[in-house]
Amino acid sequence: RIGRRTVEAADMGGDLEKILLTAEQIDARLAQLAAQIDEEYRGRDLLLVGVLRGAVMTMADLSRKIRIPLEMDWMAVSSYGSGTKSSGVVRILKDLDTDIQGRNVLIVEDIIDSGLTLSWLRSNLLSRGPESVRIATTLRKPEAAKVAIDVDYVGFDIPNEFVVGYGLDYAERYRHLPFVGTLAPHVYGG
Ligand code: XMP
Ligand code: MG
Repeated sequence: RIGRRTVEAADMGGDLEKILLTAEQIDARLAQLAAQIDEEYRGRDLLLVGVLRGAVMTMADLSRKIRIPLEMDWMAVSSYGSGTKSSGVVRILKDLDTDIQGRNVLIVEDIIDSGLTLSWLRSNLLSRGPESVRIATTLRKPEAAKVAIDVDYVGFDIPNEFVVGYGLDYAERYRHLPFVGTLAPHVYGG
């Protein structure tokens, strides 16, 4: 296709061990989720709430496939915890600009790991009196779940491995990859 130019695994100089999901697979799955969202929210108001920074890719791609009217807002949260482990104690770094009272909120996430961050975020948003709060995520790691959390729209269930790409980083790198992959051990000192 004319003008198509995206970063590839080969550009990462051997940093990636394997590709878990290709850009094409993600695109096709998000199209299915968008169709489902169109159907289930038709005639209602819809506010997408993206969780910075990982959800940027999911928000951009999913929202462009949704045909019903919608609004977007963003939150940034940080989970207190050691390194890559989330603790469930969450701090809001950037709150919504929107009053969500009476609104249908759909939280847009990149990945659900332990579920602690999202479980906290959902109850925080529910306390603001919205009409509904649902969750959409590109990735979920079922084996890592520490709390049961109802996720309405899941792209892919993946193994409990650390993944990068499609918004997800290791030390802020790899977010721009259009696919999801695992890192080669030499990158994280393994
Ligand atoms: P919890 O455990 O609360 O955490 O569901 C969700 C957040 O943890 C980050 N996370 C990852 N980031 N590769 C990443 O780059 C991963 O495999 C991974 N697993 C969890 C991410 O910020 C997510 O929002
Ligand atoms: Mg995140």
